[in-house]
Amino acid sequence: MTKATIDEADVRGKRVLLRVDFNVPMRDGEIVDDRRIRSAVPTIEALRSRGARTIAVTHLGRPKGRVDDSLRVTPLARRLGELLGVEVRVAPDVAGPGAREVVASLHDGDVGMLENVRFEPGEEANDPGLTQQLAALADVYVNDAFGAAHRAHASTEGVAHLLPAYAGYLMARELDALGGVLEDPRRPVVAIVGGAKISTKLAVLQNLVDRVDVLWIGGAMACTFYQALGLATGRSLVEPDQVETARRLQESTRTRRAALKLPVDVVVSAAPDGSAPHHEVRAEAIPDGEMVVDVGSSTTDAIAADCRDAGTVVWNGPLGIYEVPAFAAGTRAVAMAVADSPAYTVIGGGDLAAALHDTGVEDKIDHISTGGGATIEFLEGRTLPGVAALREREAARS
Ligand code: 3PG
Repeated sequence: MTKATIDEADVRGKRVLLRVDFNVPMRDGEIVDDRRIRSAVPTIEALRSRGARTIAVTHLGRPKGRVDDSLRVTPLARRLGELLGVEVRVAPDVAGPGAREVVASLHDGDVGMLENVRFEPGEEANDPGLTQQLAALADVYVNDAFGAAHRAHASTEGVAHLLPAYAGYLMARELDALGGVLEDPRRPVVAIVGGAKISTKLAVLQNLVDRVDVLWIGGAMACTFYQALGLATGRSLVEPDQVETARRLQESTRTRRAALKLPVDVVVSAAPDGSAPHHEVRAEAIPDGEMVVDVGSSTTDAIAADCRDAGTVVWNGPLGIYEVPAFAAGTRAVAMAVADSPAYTVIGGGDLAAALHDTGVEDKIDHISTGGGATIEFLEGRTLPGVAALREREAARS
C-alpha cells in the first residue's frame, strides 16, 4: 500500500500537477454522475489550504490523440469550481503556451485545469516528450486518479518519475480499502462477482478463490458455470469457449480456499429488454425458450445470510440486467443486504455505484470504489502501473 500521501509533501507556494480521473459519464454535454469529481475534492481542499497552486489534469473519453470538442474538460472544471466554491481556470491546451499561461497566473491556493490530456497523442503512448512538458509545468506531482492507475500513460505513470510524486487521499483510500480486502481482511470474507462474461472476470475469480471464504457468482456469467455442470440454460448468454474453464475452476475449489456458490434460483424471460413476462425458476429448470435475466429470491436470501455472518464483503458487477427495472430486483436486494451487513463492505464498479445510489444505501457502504477497469485489475492481483510508479518514488526517497 502507498503510504506517502500529500501529507508528507511540502506544497506551500509550489505548483502541484494533480492527476485526477474525472472521466465521468456525460449526456449532451452535461455530467450524469459527478462522483469521481466529488471524490477528489478532499485532496484538492487540502492542497489549497496548504497554499499549493493546483493544476488538475484528467482524461475524458477516448479521443485517441485528437482534439474533440465534445470531450473538452470545461464542464468538469465548472463542476469542480462549484464544489470548491472558487473559479477553476481551464487551459486551452494540455501542455502548450495556454497551459503555461494558466499555470503562471495561479496564486497560492488557486486551482487551474489543463485541457483533456488524451487530446495529446503522447499521453497514451507515455511519450517522454509529453511527460517532460507536463513535468515542466509543476514542482510536485500528485496522483489521485485511482480509476486510471491501470494505464501506463504520460500523466498517470511517466511524469511520476520526473517530479517528487505522492498519492492523493482518494488514491490512498482506494488502495487501503481494496488492498485490505486482499491482504489482511476481517474473516470470513464473502465475495460477490457478477457480470455478463466469465472471460472478463476470470482473473478476478482465479485470484479471489484463494483469498476469500465464500465466492458467489451471479449475472449471466453463472450460466457458463451451469453449462459446465450439465444444466440446461435455454437462450441465456453463455460463452461456449469458457465452459471448460468454468468446469476446471469449479473442480479446483476442492483444494482452494473459497466455497464457490452459484445462484440456486434465477429470474427468466423470453426477452432481455423487459418486453416479455418474467418469472422465477430453480437453476435446474431454466426453460428452453427463455434466458436468465436476474438472480432469484432464494439466492438473494442466501447471499444476505452470508453477508450477515461476514467480516468483510466485496462485490463487483451487477447480478442481473440491471438497466431494465424489472430485472434489477436481485441486484437491489443484494445492495440492501450488503448495506445491512455488519461487515466491512467494499463495492467496485460504476454499474454498481449507480445501483446503490438508486437503492439509497450508498451511505451505508464502507467503500465504493471509483475505479472500473482499475478495480478489476486490482482484484485480479495485478500491479497497477500508476501505483507502482508512486511506490518506486517513495522507496527512492526513504
Ligand atoms: C475508467 O473510466 O475506467 C477510467 O477512467 C479509465 O478509462 P479508459 O478505460 O478509457 O482508460
